[in-house]
Amino acid sequence: MPTAIITGGTKGIGRATAEIFASKGYSLAICSRNLEELQEVKETLEKDHAGINVYTQVVDVSQVADVQAFAQSVKKQYETIDVLVNNAGVFIPGSIKDEPAGNLQQMMDTNLYSAYHLSRDIIPHMTRAGHGHIINICSIASITAYANGGSYAISKWAMLGFSKCLREELKTEGIKVTAVLPGATWSNSWAGVDLPEDRLMEAKDIAQVIYNAVSLGKNAVVEDIVIRPQLGDL
Ligand SMILES: NC(=O)c1ccc[n+]([C@@H]2O[C@H](COP(=O)([O-])OP(=O)(O)OC[C@H]3O[C@@H](n4cnc5c(N)ncnc54)[C@H](OP(=O)(O)O)[C@@H]3O)[C@@H](O)[C@H]2O)c1
Repeated sequence: MPTAIITGGTKGIGRATAEIFASKGYSLAICSRNLEELQEVKETLEKDHAGINVYTQVVDVSQVADVQAFAQSVKKQYETIDVLVNNAGVFIPGSIKDEPAGNLQQMMDTNLYSAYHLSRDIIPHMTRAGHGHIINICSIASITAYANGGSYAISKWAMLGFSKCLREELKTEGIKVTAVLPGATWSNSWAGVDLPEDRLMEAKDIAQVIYNAVSLGKNAVVEDIVIRPQLGDL
């Protein structure tokens, strides 16, 4: 049975990705900071998709020790790991000149270093198996400067750089690396925002392109996916 790790698998893009992979027969390992939500996702997916297993762990991905403990547990749980989706992330609005000190650090820890540490711990498992696919959830903010989201954009720019460097390193290991750059997508971060429903993408659209990238034959890799609302960026 194929397996996928999805960080931040309880909500938004991560949840939709967990759902599509479960529907295709993948067993999963998901993490977030909320035990009840993890239990709900596990129960729902295991009920809806007979035969799959959903391993869950409470993890704060901004904490290196938490990430490393999660990697250890998942490697004990699953002999091979086919897909790793580095999805968990946080957006704290603010300008570089005015925001509270620590915003950049928090977003770098959550959005970038989480992926760096988890990938480093999982890659040897993939190398041993001779295959694997790492998906890094970046953003349109990885290629665009924003006045009210500077530190977020810095962290996502770095995530894209991480993804591109990892792609070069892993070319000859049989491990694929894909950077996904979504534009505005309905999720918690947009709760309460007064916009027409069709102005943002749905999380399941992002999940679909991730699954499509993973479905290709072994000689092809989708390196970057740029996906925007039909009406363009906000
Ligand atoms: N939505 C958009 O418009 C958009 C656009 C471009 C890129 N993205 C990126 O897509 C990814 C997912 O975003 P989303 O909009 O789907 O967010 P979301 O709905 O807020 O979900 C984020 C998920 O990550 C988890 N998470 C957040 N911080 C965490 C931490 N420190 N440790 C462990 N888990 C954590 C959350 O669970 P807990 O909070 O319970 O821990 C939740 O499961 C992020 O990397 C985001 O930057 C989003």
